[in-house]
Amino acid sequence: MNDIIERIKQLKEQKNALILAHNYQDIQIQDVADFRGDSLQLSILASEASAEIIVFCGVKFMAETAAMLNPAARVLLPVLDAGCPMADMITGEQLRQFKAAHPGAVVICYVNSSAEVKAESDICCTSSNAVKIVRSIPVNQPILFVPDQNLGNWAARQSGREIITWNGYCPVHHWQFSPARIEDLRKQYPEHTLLAHPECPAVILDQADKVMSTSGMMNYCANHDKVIIATEVAMIRYLQHLYPQKSILPLAPGAICQNMLKTGIHDLLRALENEEHLITVPQDIASKAVKCLDRMLELSR
Ligand code: 13P
Ligand code: SF4
Repeated sequence: MNDIIERIKQLKEQKNALILAHNYQDIQIQDVADFRGDSLQLSILASEASAEIIVFCGVKFMAETAAMLNPAARVLLPVLDAGCPMADMITGEQLRQFKAAHPGAVVICYVNSSAEVKAESDICCTSSNAVKIVRSIPVNQPILFVPDQNLGNWAARQSGREIITWNGYCPVHHWQFSPARIEDLRKQYPEHTLLAHPECPAVILDQADKVMSTSGMMNYCANHDKVIIATEVAMIRYLQHLYPQKSILPLAPGAICQNMLKTGIHDLLRALENEEHLITVPQDIASKAVKCLDRMLELSR
């Protein structure tokens, strides 16, 4: 294993490559990455990077976003079919029809969406800035939110705004957590704080002590010892690896994102060796989509 890590480090230097890893990536990938983070942090890092190559260890919409924000870099996704089922729950054509049914509405798209959907949207958001983005929209303007109904509805409750949401969802966050499980763990661990990702349904978010992005959770755990987390378990495993002395527990051990799991350390090595898989977005789509990303970044930096 040490040989593989050494080889990755050598290739990274030789090729002027930057390795970005989402917080859901496995321990080996996170340990060798230059930066780890949530979707917003990684988008900002990608947009500012001066490396010739960005290897994005995550899922496809993240690499597409990096490619649009940094057209000078070659962006590689180590496993081509690492996608996001929620991002696939709306197409550009479906969004065009949704807009036609609600003329005059502003479209906010969660970053977990295809480049084509971003190109049809007015402003993008991530889990860490969704409420702020909603609040930036003039009060008299109707809002459409795609594709995540849970994040959209949560942002609506937080901001007091009415939002019409698409009915997409993340299969991991939507299906894996239950109020009964919260009740059980609360009884067993009464001193623990429950953190939940805003992709969870309202029945879970209503019972959480805090709702935050994956990096919000990483930061919280740096300063607290007893935590239960409602999000994907690879990140919780990474937290347990960072803080073996703390009690950091998953709300559901089965909450696994099969797509995030696809990228292993051998895939990362192969990506650097062969410079694959290059992610590109057609210029006509990228030129529109980047506007909705830039609008978000202007409000977030
Ligand atoms: P974060 O932006 O909070 O990392 O969330 C991304 C994601 O895909 C969660 O499922
Ligand atoms: Fe998509 Fe859910 Fe996986 Fe995040 S956890 S990448 S939203 S499927």
